[in-house]
Amino acid sequence: MDKIPEIIAYAKEKLQEDLTGHGFDHASRVATLATQIAKKEAVQLDEEVLIAAAYLHDTIDDKVVPDVAIALTKLQSFLKEINFSAQQQAEIIFIITNMSFSKELEAKANLSIAGQIVQDADRLEALGAMGILRTAYFGGSHQHPLHNPMIKPINFTDKKEYRKGTTVINHFYEKLLLLPDKMNTKTAYTEAVRRQKFMEAFLSEFYQEWEPENAEFF
Ligand code: ADP
Ligand code: NI
Repeated sequence: MDKIPEIIAYAKEKLQEDLTGHGFDHASRVATLATQIAKKEAVQLDEEVLIAAAYLHDTIDDKVVPDVAIALTKLQSFLKEINFSAQQQAEIIFIITNMSFSKELEAKANLSIAGQIVQDADRLEALGAMGILRTAYFGGSHQHPLHNPMIKPINFTDKKEYRKGTTVINHFYEKLLLLPDKMNTKTAYTEAVRRQKFMEAFLSEFYQEWEPENAEFF
């Protein structure tokens, strides 16, 4: 586990300036959640691969970096430098280039068990209180409207279209509420359902407040 401080330093450097909800704090929670899920599931896996994939998963994301190809080359050199074996390097790169929701809209890859757990941990971060705030924050940074009943949610099948997005509230239906059924592990599924219930309660509150003329607050 001697590589972890260097992995953390790399993730911190690459993600510290992110203002779209994909900063170092997010990466660090994904690593913690992934470690907790792996422990609960009691599966055999390479813990350094799990932790590296969790901390580094957004360092090559098109939402976060200006040039994905350059970021990928830099990451590959870094993994080599800190002495990951060729097989570990390949597993980490495979996980983080294939785990995203947007990538899966186009093609679903078969992730290793470490990959499935990091994917679950990242998806838990898209749910619950954290998910609601990150979505509003992302929508704000991309100048999306909060809500517009005239704009209907889209069932996206194309990454480019998905990236354009519609409204903050639509993102709940376009992605977030679809996530619990996509979890790989039972441990993450149980927590995803808990977070989903909280989001549904939030939405029902939101719709009441959106149209005070139809609510009976007073
Ligand atoms: P992935 O990296 O798995 O493809 P996303 O691109 O959906 O995942 O981004 C991760 C998080 O960023 C989402 O859970 C959400 O909080 C936020 N986000 C991404 N796209 C949008 C969008 N169109 N509107 C609002 N939030 C978004
Ligand atoms: Ni992420």
